[in-house]
Amino acid sequence: MQVEKTLEALLRDAPQGVAPIITAIAAACVEIERLTSLGGLAGSLGASLGQNADGDTQKELDVRAQELMMVAMRQSGVAAIASEELEDWELCDAKGTFAVAFDPLDGSSNIDTNMSIGTIFSILPAKGSDNPFTQPGHAQIAAGFAVYGPQTLLVLTFGKGTDVLTLDPRDGVWRVTRNHVQITGNSTEYAVNASNYRHWDRAVRAYVDDCVSGVEGPREKNFNMRWIGSLVAEAFRILTRGGVFLYPGDVRQGYREGRLRLLYEAHPIAFVIEQAGGRASNGHGRILDMVPKSIHQRVPLFFGSAEKVERLERLHNDPQIGSETSPLFGRRGLFRA
Ligand code: F6P
Repeated sequence: MQVEKTLEALLRDAPQGVAPIITAIAAACVEIERLTSLGGLAGSLGASLGQNADGDTQKELDVRAQELMMVAMRQSGVAAIASEELEDWELCDAKGTFAVAFDPLDGSSNIDTNMSIGTIFSILPAKGSDNPFTQPGHAQIAAGFAVYGPQTLLVLTFGKGTDVLTLDPRDGVWRVTRNHVQITGNSTEYAVNASNYRHWDRAVRAYVDDCVSGVEGPREKNFNMRWIGSLVAEAFRILTRGGVFLYPGDVRQGYREGRLRLLYEAHPIAFVIEQAGGRASNGHGRILDMVPKSIHQRVPLFFGSAEKVERLERLHNDPQIGSETSPLFGRRGLFRA
């Protein structure tokens, strides 16, 4: 029988001091997974309890996952913590050398539906008593996410590629099941909440229009759309079989910069994706070059296979895009040249 590498063995190659933090996060994720899989047996995990600091609806499982992650992070001696569920960042252990930002429960609208949800985390160098959460994404030391689905997974990078670990339910050990994942460029899948089409700008509409036009459009091939509504699940699908994810900014109130958060969603996902050979962008440039101005800053997010994200960037940066999408004379128009 093939013996897969354990998390403990994988972490021997992690940067100095990071292994105990990742071990603590992985242990908290096991507890969140146990709670998730109990479903209705653990109470009303999907019940709305109110709103978090930033106005998002908070579910019972959001709150319980937050408690589990807070205990784990405080016990592992991190210097500072930021979370989707905290109004502001918190200073913890003055001797700590790392700061951790996390979304304890991503995809909470799926809690009651038995669909995949997860936990996302980002580990940064601490900066004494200064706010460590104003560093660019490329300063991250490690990042990853757990997926609570048919399998419980941990996707992890510390800058030496992206690995996937599976929680072995037979003995509760995390084992590496995919080493140095590489995102394929061959996929014809895209993920977007298409119900927002009328709110998007021209660049995003043009990209999606071309996919929808299939073999009759400028890309001359058929595409397929998937939308789960859990960032972690879409990210894992893209790591598995390629494609592209779009959550653009749009004209709805509060969505000008999209929906997803730079610090604890876009940055860690971008690190994982780049380490798997993909690209992550805000439409104009690299997500990992962005510096958060605030803990809960939102950002338009596009990620997946590099050439698809580059195509989205070309559309965003193209001053001709208005005429390109003209219903009569544009490249996609009735009288296309
Ligand atoms: O964190 C927010 C989140 O739940 C993501 O997991 C997911 O990608 C997105 O929101 C879903 O957004 P919408 O409700 O617009 O489909």
